[in-house]
Amino acid sequence: MFDEIPRESLAFLPTPLHRLKHLGDSIGLDELWIKRDDLTGHSFGGNKTRKMEFVLGDARAIKADTIVTVGGLQSNHCRQTAVACAKAGFRCILLLAGEEPETYTGNLLLNSMLGAEIKFFPDDHLLTMHSRLDEVLETLKDFGLNPYAVPAGATMPVGVISYAVAMEELYSQTQNEGFTPEKIIVATGTAGTLAGLIVGAQMLDLDVDIIGVSVLHGAEEATLQVKNQISRIIDKYPEVDDFKPTINVDDTFLEPGYGIMTEGVRTAIDNFAKMDGIFLDPVYTGKAGLALMRMAINGDIKSKEHTVFWHTGGSPALFAYPELAKI
Ligand SMILES: Cc1ncc(COP(=O)(O)O)c(C=O)c1O
Repeated sequence: MFDEIPRESLAFLPTPLHRLKHLGDSIGLDELWIKRDDLTGHSFGGNKTRKMEFVLGDARAIKADTIVTVGGLQSNHCRQTAVACAKAGFRCILLLAGEEPETYTGNLLLNSMLGAEIKFFPDDHLLTMHSRLDEVLETLKDFGLNPYAVPAGATMPVGVISYAVAMEELYSQTQNEGFTPEKIIVATGTAGTLAGLIVGAQMLDLDVDIIGVSVLHGAEEATLQVKNQISRIIDKYPEVDDFKPTINVDDTFLEPGYGIMTEGVRTAIDNFAKMDGIFLDPVYTGKAGLALMRMAINGDIKSKEHTVFWHTGGSPALFAYPELAKI
């Protein structure tokens, strides 16, 4: 799938797939598995490393020299962009929404260690950063550089297809384990990962219920964004036939807001760590983990249903949440 698209080798693939035995037992799921994209590799892994393989392949093909992207202060995407650039030899500029903190922790600390050039925008927030991207790009061009803009979360068709390829990887692993996935739970922010998985399942003709746990938008807006990403992929890549996607977004844990820790998220982080030694993150996978637990306890997942929790990474952000130490 997408074999002809230029790609940099950045991730350690395939990422492991294994059972979540103790957590599964505790919430009545006999067939609970985890796909470890928190182990995609360099600098603590995560889902953006898969996307950056194709994004940097594209940047190299047009002879770009500088990658510019946007995110929040603790953006996992920015950290994975910084490490991808360090490894592949691109200059990296990160535009972060928020005030420069006195102390760099978590992803921000790693970004500076990776040599990324960081610019802070105290009056902006995640959703206003794309106009900053355009401004900085124009300035860089004026200086004779050939910059390449990567939107938040590397959610652009060439990034999103990486998760169609990842679905193929998961399918092959589950076949080796003797099952076919029936449910997948994954965190969704900029919609790219979820859109890619849906495209991959369609290309493989797989009947799997993929549930995106939204941390950024309400279900209606998130669904629209996933739809939009899928349409862009259908338009760009002839190997993807037109189809009407089924999009399933769970926004139960959206409030009190992006990156704000709740007791529920703490419980999910705590359970995954103490039962199976898995570190979730406070912003994305903590909410997805909580949604998984809720679905299991409510009976929305049957005990024999083959369920994959897709871990999308983010653990360095844990170090920016000292309140977790009180669990
Ligand atoms: C740990 C983690 N999980 C999930 C996501 C969501 O991925 P997407 O933006 O492709 O929806 C992100 C995005 O930054 C992330 O950092």
